[in-house]
Amino acid sequence: MTAKILRGRVLSFLSEPQGLDDVSSFLYLEDGAITIADGKIVAVGDYASAELGDAEIVDHRPHLILPGFIDLHLHYVQSQMIAAYAGSLLEWLNTYTFVEEQKFGQQGHAGAVSADFYDELIRNGTTTAVAYCSSHPRSVDAYFAEAERRNMLMIGGKVMMDRNAPEALCDTAQSGYDDTKILIERWHGRGRGLYAISPRFAITSTTAQLEASRTLAAEHPECYVQTHLSENDAEISFSMELYPDSPDYTGIYEDYGLLGPRTLLGHSIHLNHRETRVLAETGAVAVFCPTSNLFLGSGLFDHDRLQQAGVRIGMATDIGGGTSFSMLRTMDEAYKILQLRKQRLTPLSSFYKMTLGNARALSLEGTIGTIAPGNAADLVVLDSGATPVMRLRQGSSLVDELFLLQTLGDDRAIAEVYVAGARAKSTLGGLAA
Ligand code: GUN
Ligand code: ZN
Repeated sequence: MTAKILRGRVLSFLSEPQGLDDVSSFLYLEDGAITIADGKIVAVGDYASAELGDAEIVDHRPHLILPGFIDLHLHYVQSQMIAAYAGSLLEWLNTYTFVEEQKFGQQGHAGAVSADFYDELIRNGTTTAVAYCSSHPRSVDAYFAEAERRNMLMIGGKVMMDRNAPEALCDTAQSGYDDTKILIERWHGRGRGLYAISPRFAITSTTAQLEASRTLAAEHPECYVQTHLSENDAEISFSMELYPDSPDYTGIYEDYGLLGPRTLLGHSIHLNHRETRVLAETGAVAVFCPTSNLFLGSGLFDHDRLQQAGVRIGMATDIGGGTSFSMLRTMDEAYKILQLRKQRLTPLSSFYKMTLGNARALSLEGTIGTIAPGNAADLVVLDSGATPVMRLRQGSSLVDELFLLQTLGDDRAIAEVYVAGARAKSTLGGLAA
């Protein structure tokens, strides 16, 4: 297979930026070359010193080439219900979400939705995501089959829920366990797929189901665990009524052995000091979902308090509570939430978080999230002059440009996407590359 060389401005993070002038935290090449073979990056450096050989050269100048974006939490089965008009979380779940997810019991539905879902990820520059499927195993099959077809590194799992939801969505502690076992065997490590054991949240799982989740996590330490934590006041109160013996919401998952470095906790907004300490000690990841938190009026994520306590933090869209598939739109809303908290999110930190930061949250540094030899050639090409208003205000420095992309950018700013070295955006819908 002949190598491919992408030419353009290259940006990739090396560590978490410690301020606006932390130039040691990233690699930036004004005229860079990324050499790709067999789906992987084999070299990165200045174009002038690249070994061109007989490689195919794709010139993306003047655009910026970054690692593909990573989305740490979303519900692919909610793709068709973004913008459901509801007040807050529990009403939104009961009125819209649980109705929508029941459609996945019908033959053919999951396949159709997953095709659209992956198109939307690619359109927005997201090359890896961690998704909840519905409680129907066939929704998981459709999810991973489509990922395999597109050669994408995707993580996900069957949502487990055995109470406080419509009958048609509920499994049982035993069937949730059995189905999850089968799905892990079928999909974890097949192609680039990785499995996430997914008890939905404390409200929809009995003690028996959390116990079964503990067993699954212990039997499959290679898998991730994902659930929701401390999103909304009414949700927290109901959870504590259901688990009166636990000290707080985090304590519920702690009591069932579900917290560890492969655990992703969506939202994690209203945490007390004990909970924050437990997250830091266990290495569990608090996942910030800004567009969802604003849309559902859930609260303002306390980024700096968690960070200072040593909690690992990830970023996500939380479709369909979230309102955009775009990680650029997501970071723009994150920035505004932190403005209200009098906390600053620098543009360097934002782009770190979407790439290497989220890869680290998944313990996948060395596989995705950076443009480095040996890593997958999952890349996004950004056009900072994609729209008329973006062209009005062209940034003069790299930081200006990143902030412009975050503040005004969306799917239109994604000029191209590469998945394992293959063009993925310009080939959507069968269009010629
Ligand atoms: N908590 C439990 N399920 C969900 C969900 O589907 N979306 C959000 N935002 N929160 C949840
Ligand atoms: Zn969610």
